[in-house]
Amino acid sequence: MSYRVYPTRGAAARALATEFVRIADKATSSRDRFTAVLSGGNTPRDAYRLIATDEFSRQIKWSQTYIFWSDERAVPLDHADNNARMAKDTLLNHVPLPLPQLFRIQSQHPPQQAADDYQATMQKFFTGRLGMKIPKFDLMVLGIGADGHIASLFPGTLALAEKDRWVVANEVPQLDTWRVTLTYPVINAATNIIFLVLGEEKAAIVKRALTPPADPSDAIPAHLVRAANVHWILDKPAASLLEGQSQTN
Ligand code: 6PG
Repeated sequence: MSYRVYPTRGAAARALATEFVRIADKATSSRDRFTAVLSGGNTPRDAYRLIATDEFSRQIKWSQTYIFWSDERAVPLDHADNNARMAKDTLLNHVPLPLPQLFRIQSQHPPQQAADDYQATMQKFFTGRLGMKIPKFDLMVLGIGADGHIASLFPGTLALAEKDRWVVANEVPQLDTWRVTLTYPVINAATNIIFLVLGEEKAAIVKRALTPPADPSDAIPAHLVRAANVHWILDKPAASLLEGQSQTN
């Protein structure tokens, strides 16, 4: 696990865009295919907009790119809170990604059905087409909530314990809602995970997430991420409670 601190939000967005291009290039050069997971929330908007600019976009082989989502809210596809809609508005509508290579969670359906459908879609792509037992995404872009949730794996919810399914419907009592989310088996099988975390309101949870829990019962959802390469891109305010400004463990 490593992290790096950038002086401004813009510099952090640029760092994510740069990593996105680097990992996409590595994947398409070696396998003619780049599989990525995007998250929602507010934080990645500027980075997504940057990836859509010519400077970054033309370095990406969109015809070999396949986009999935970490989680989705229980809202219609065109709702302002829909995670995929946000990524389409900021990035995907502005690049030559073939539509069949964009895999949205069908959140217009009840959460259980949307989760079953997404699991089936992922199985068809990763197992049926690529022969993988479990998806091994080249890159997952994740965020973290102030309570330590990642994707829609919220503290205390049932989905945290899922060992088999790749996608589940997760009841989130603290938000009085349901979400559809990827689970740890698939998150932890990813080749690269990049967290983008910005702003002072995330400083305390960043410090907690980057400090191993004293006791397993103190673990927050972010502590359970154990993929091969996990990197955190932070701006100064988000990193303000950390000791060093850059570190690799
Ligand atoms: C979502 C997410 C979620 C998000 C964090 C951070 O649907 O909200 O995918 O895991 O990354 O909640 O959200 P912000 O970037 O808005 O703080």
